[in-house]
Amino acid sequence: MAAADLERFSNAEPEPRNLSLGGHVGFDSLPDQLVSKSVTQGFSFNILCVGETGIGKSTLMNTLFNTTFETEEASHHEECVRLRPQTYNLQESNVHLKLTIVDAVGFGDQINKDESYRPIVDYIDAQFENYLQEELKIRRSLFDYHDTRIHVCLYFITPTGHSLKSLDLVTMKKLDSKVNIIPIIAKADTISKSELHKFKIKIMGELVSNGVQIYQFPTDDEAVAEINAVMNAHLPFAVVGSTEEVKVGNKLVRARQYPWGVVQVENENHCDFVKLREMLIRVNMEDLREQTHSRHYELYRRCKLEEMGFQDSDGDSQPFSLQETYEAKRKEFLNELQRKEEEMRQMFVNKVKETELELKEKERELHEKFEHLKRIHQEEKRKVEEKRRELEEETSAFTRRKAAMEALQSQALHATSQQPLRKDKDRKN
Ligand code: GTP
Ligand code: MG
Repeated sequence: MAAADLERFSNAEPEPRNLSLGGHVGFDSLPDQLVSKSVTQGFSFNILCVGETGIGKSTLMNTLFNTTFETEEASHHEECVRLRPQTYNLQESNVHLKLTIVDAVGFGDQINKDESYRPIVDYIDAQFENYLQEELKIRRSLFDYHDTRIHVCLYFITPTGHSLKSLDLVTMKKLDSKVNIIPIIAKADTISKSELHKFKIKIMGELVSNGVQIYQFPTDDEAVAEINAVMNAHLPFAVVGSTEEVKVGNKLVRARQYPWGVVQVENENHCDFVKLREMLIRVNMEDLREQTHSRHYELYRRCKLEEMGFQDSDGDSQPFSLQETYEAKRKEFLNELQRKEEEMRQMFVNKVKETELELKEKERELHEKFEHLKRIHQEEKRKVEEKRRELEEETSAFTRRKAAMEALQSQALHATSQQPLRKDKDRKN
């Protein structure tokens, strides 16, 4: 359908009329249907933990979900940051939760930390890409697709009491358009109350001045607007994690016991752990999932499709159909392919010509060399012939001289043998 027709139809759409019902119809059960469907389907929730080795990531996860996930201590000698996802099936009442905890193993352990954020960004993008590929499939199965997109990044800040490290700022800046970041001050029992207050203000100031967008608990839903607004003012949460249970009064509570006292994890006067759990799990889990889909994934999808050449409208704001864009892209691609093919063919012909010329040149050189050698050979042959002739002449001269000598010698010998006979004859006479 042409764009102009589409516009005509949408302009022609009549205003909906308000009608009152004569009796009970039953669509007021729609929200219940949704709840029941969601409960049957179950939920997935994916948490990314970023923080230096030993900052208390695993302990906090165990404390948050009141269980023991299998955790192993990370080595301090990782060559680069490695993302390790682990998925667990959890159940509370009749609600099933597929929880994936992704650990950024080795974060902050390298001497050169320039690229520490890169594996984290790549991992988040890879999960978006997987989802996009599933969406673009002809036979999609998003219904039972295991969504691995990261819904929240808990960024563990070291409780120095000073300021954020540049590694923290750079990493959070690189992540803020891709994931909901909730910054938390880890091991908050190691920092005093007054220092903590100043530290929180300092961190928030630094995040604002560096333009880092952290996740804000939503205040547009009346039911949770008030509590979320209050909690936004408490960010970053200062948390304490513990898997130890200590008896306080006559109750066993999660706490950390020190020689001078006990830090109770769930005591709001001691730390913000309860605030974090309430905000992350009870109040805003669905908003985190929703924000991931509607904001972060949408941005990734838009950039990716634009990169592939898809647009919603052309230069004159006319809507583009996916089909037209696809056809145009296909044509462009085929032309490009043809151009490349022609270029390669031409290159091949040139190469063959070049090689042919080179071969001819080589052949000519060889021929010249052969002729030269032939000339030298003939010259040598001629010289040897001459020498042989001279030698033969010398030999025959020598033979002649030798024969003359021999003749002379025999004459002389003959003459000497005749002389004594004559002397004897003379004496007798
Ligand atoms: P890797 O996985 O090896 O990177 O460590 P991690 O970040 O998972 O830390 P983990 O939870 O293994 O805790 C490391 C140490 O810190 C353990 O000895 C914990 O008992 C201790 N720890 C954890 N949370 C806290 C906390 O809130 N306060 C204090 N003081 N210590 C904590
Ligand atoms: Mg750990």
